[in-house]
Amino acid sequence: MNDIAAGSFFEPQVIADPFDYYRAWLPKSPVVQLSEAMFLVLSYDLCAQATGDVETFSNNFQGTLSGAMAEDGDVAAILAEGWPQVDTLLTADPPVHTRFRKLVNLAFSMKRVAAIEEDMRGVVIELIEKMAAKGEADFVRDFGIPLPVAMIASQIGMTGDDLDKVKRWSDAFVDRLGRMIPKERELECAREVVEFQHFVKAKIDERRAERTEDLLSDLVYAEVDGERPLEDAEILSIMQQLMVAGNETTTSALAGGLLQLIENPDQMAKAVAAADEGNERAIINLVEEVLRTESPTAGMWRMVLKETELGGVKIPKGAMVQLRYAAANRDPAKYPDPDRFDIERANARSHLAFGKGIHMCVGNMLSRKEMAVAYTELLTRLADFRVADGHVPSWPPNMLLRGLTTLPITFRRRA
Ligand code: HEM
Repeated sequence: MNDIAAGSFFEPQVIADPFDYYRAWLPKSPVVQLSEAMFLVLSYDLCAQATGDVETFSNNFQGTLSGAMAEDGDVAAILAEGWPQVDTLLTADPPVHTRFRKLVNLAFSMKRVAAIEEDMRGVVIELIEKMAAKGEADFVRDFGIPLPVAMIASQIGMTGDDLDKVKRWSDAFVDRLGRMIPKERELECAREVVEFQHFVKAKIDERRAERTEDLLSDLVYAEVDGERPLEDAEILSIMQQLMVAGNETTTSALAGGLLQLIENPDQMAKAVAAADEGNERAIINLVEEVLRTESPTAGMWRMVLKETELGGVKIPKGAMVQLRYAAANRDPAKYPDPDRFDIERANARSHLAFGKGIHMCVGNMLSRKEMAVAYTELLTRLADFRVADGHVPSWPPNMLLRGLTTLPITFRRRA
């Protein structure tokens, strides 16, 4: 285990299964230098510390990561048919971030999440019934993807056939962020971005004409302390981030959590009992333990604005640092027996799966609710979940996100 080279972290086989790396490096070096200007932060305390120091660790990394593509003339020509990509939430620092975050917080309130809970349960039950009718499923394709997609889509007034578009657009945004795609795909992604922008812009105009009961309307009408309302490009940027940040991550959490339950029958039995008893607190803790152990946003970048020191390691100005939330969430100093999936873990909720500080996930209430409703309904309606014979779950290598892309399962309907 100890012969894992520090700099090997982003090699495909390591990043696809990084747990040995965490176990080897976290105890001896919570900040690992990967190259001259790239560092990895592994411990809970240091990840938390860096999220609190926004003057040193900046989220304004979009240009650094996507600069090459924006300079490509063909891509730029396509993007010019849409609206400019402005930094609003994830990739903005204060004071720009502060203003957008206030406005989005207004739109993304607990009230809004509570208002859609009934619809959410309806979608969940419909998806379960469809799977039950077939008697088997690919849980990612048949449940994990459509649930978050439907919840976001309904908030921008999309239904039915439009849902495939949301997934297509989300994938394009994610591919652009990943930056490991051929030119042809870059061009295709740029076209998807522009199509998305024109689609949502029409929805914005409809809401300016007449207010509706959804998140997009809340954004269109959001105002704080008499500040100017959001402009089209800003709303488009926010909606884009909601799709990118909200879809794949929630899919991964839903699927990864079900796999954990399947692989840990004692925990599955406890979860089923909690669902049967309507024990919401126990289900909420299950959700938190899934988030801790799965950490779908496994890492997030920070750009270092001034020379600093973290955990005794000198980090130069201009370096890129990845806060590895997935490693922090398995830090034995914070979570005893950290690799154990324990749905009764007392401090599960303290995890960093949603980050911490000013950039803490704005969709955390929504995805937590989706997971709680999903597991409650799945466990009360279906039983004997198994991974389909012969399937070995695997995780594709990805620098930031970690999640199953397929999970074939069998199950039976409960009497
Ligand atoms: C299990 C599901 C999810 C996970 C694990 C997750 C994870 C995260 C993390 C770790 C961050 C902080 C990034 C940083 O430190 O810079 C974040 C931010 C964000 N998330 Fe999520 N997220 C999830 C679901 C969602 C959903 C459902 C939405 C919206 C519909 C969403 C929208 C956002 C946005 C807009 C930000 C940026 C916030 C800001 O910079 O102020 N996420 N998310």
